[in-house]
Amino acid sequence: MKVEFYGHVRQYHNIKSEIDRNIQTVLESGQYVMGPMLKQFEAELATYHGTKYAIGLGNGTDAIWLALMALGIGPGDEVITHPNTFFATAEAIWIAGATAVFVDCCPNTKCICPDRIEAAITPKTKAIIPVHLYGQCADMVAIKKIADKHKLKVIEDNAQAIGANGPGFKVGELSDAATTSFIIQKNLGTFGDSGALVTNNPDIDTQVRRLRNHGSTQRNVHSYGFNSRLDDLHAGVLSAKLKHIDAWNDLRRTWATRYTAGLKDCKTFDLPVALPGYRHVFHLYVIETKKPEWRDQLVDFLVKNGVDAKTHYSIAIHKQAGYPWDKGARVVGSVSNAEANAACCISLPMFPELKPEEVDYVIAKVKEWDGQHAAQAPAGKGPAQSGSACKHCS
Ligand SMILES: Cc1ncc(COP(=O)(O)O)c(C=O)c1O
Repeated sequence: MKVEFYGHVRQYHNIKSEIDRNIQTVLESGQYVMGPMLKQFEAELATYHGTKYAIGLGNGTDAIWLALMALGIGPGDEVITHPNTFFATAEAIWIAGATAVFVDCCPNTKCICPDRIEAAITPKTKAIIPVHLYGQCADMVAIKKIADKHKLKVIEDNAQAIGANGPGFKVGELSDAATTSFIIQKNLGTFGDSGALVTNNPDIDTQVRRLRNHGSTQRNVHSYGFNSRLDDLHAGVLSAKLKHIDAWNDLRRTWATRYTAGLKDCKTFDLPVALPGYRHVFHLYVIETKKPEWRDQLVDFLVKNGVDAKTHYSIAIHKQAGYPWDKGARVVGSVSNAEANAACCISLPMFPELKPEEVDYVIAKVKEWDGQHAAQAPAGKGPAQSGSACKHCS
C-alpha cells in the first residue's frame, strides 16, 4: 500500500462541483483582482472567526509582516517568538526590519512557553508572535496577560490552526491580529498561494488594506505600499472550502485519535499531546523519537514501505546555515525543548480524506519499526518531551 502525505486531489474531487462553480462565477464576472468574490470571501472569513475584519493577502508570510508594519513595528524593535516554527514566522519579522528574539517552546505543546517570555522583554520589545503550531493554540490567556502588563502587541501566527480554539478563547479574540496561510497543504488551502489577516482593530484593517494594494484605496491615489492581494479565483476556491473546514478538522481529529490509540504502547517515541479544553485541529500529527538518531531511520523505513512521512521542522531557525544573515536576532535562555523537537520530530500522513485502512497501515508500519528497536528504548519520555512541563502545557 502507498499512503501519501497530502490528499489535495481527493479533496478537490469530493467537492469538485462547488469549487468549479465558484471558479466559473469568477471567470464569467470579468473581475479577477479585488473583485466581488474576494469581498464575499473576506466577509465569510470574518464571520467564521467572529472578528470585525478579514483581509485577503498574497500569502501567510506577508500577512505577518504587513501586520507588524501596520502596527508601526520595524527597525530598532524586537519581536519575540520561538525557533521551532516554520521559517516564515521569523522571516516576516526580519522583512519588517525588526529583530527576532527566540525563546523556548513548552515541551508538550511545542508552542511558545509563556513562562519564558518575560525574561526576553527589553525596552525595545514591541510584540509577541505566538504560533499555533501543528494545529493547537498557544496559551493565549497567559500571553495576553504578559502583553498587557508590558504594553506589547500580539500577532497570532495561525497558519496551521484555522478552526482551532483554546479553553474560553477563539483565535483572533485575545490578540491585535491573527494571520493565516492558505497554501494548498494548510487545513484550509487553495490551489496555490494566499493568506489572510483577521482583526477587530479598524486601524490595522485600514492600514493593511492600503499596504496590500500599492498604498491605495482609491484609484490613482497612492502612498507607500506593496502588492499582496488574494485574487478572486483563489478566493472562490477558499469560499467553497470554508464551508467544510469544521467537518474536515473533525476528520483530522478522528485520524489523530486512531493514531494515538494504535501507537500508545510503542516504546521508541512520544505521541503528540492534545491539551484538555483545546480544540487541536491536527494540521500535523507529530511523534518525537526518544533518540534523535532514530528520526531519520524511522522516516526512511516508512518511506521505503510506502508511507510518506516528513519532518516539521528538522532544523530550528537559529541552527540554519548562515543564521542570522546579518539580521537582528537573539536567543534568550535555553531553547533545548525547541532543539529537541527539531531533532526528533516525525510527521505522519494527516489529511481529512485519509481512509481507515491507510491510517491502520501507517500504524502497522510504525509498530513494526518500533518492535525492532523497543529493546534499546530509554525508559520514560524522550528528549523532546522530558523537559519540565509547565502549567501551560500539562
Ligand atoms: C507557522 C507558519 N507561519 C507562516 C507560514 C507562511 O505562510 P506562506 O507560506 O503562505 O507564506 C507558514 C506556512 O507556510 C507556517 O506554517
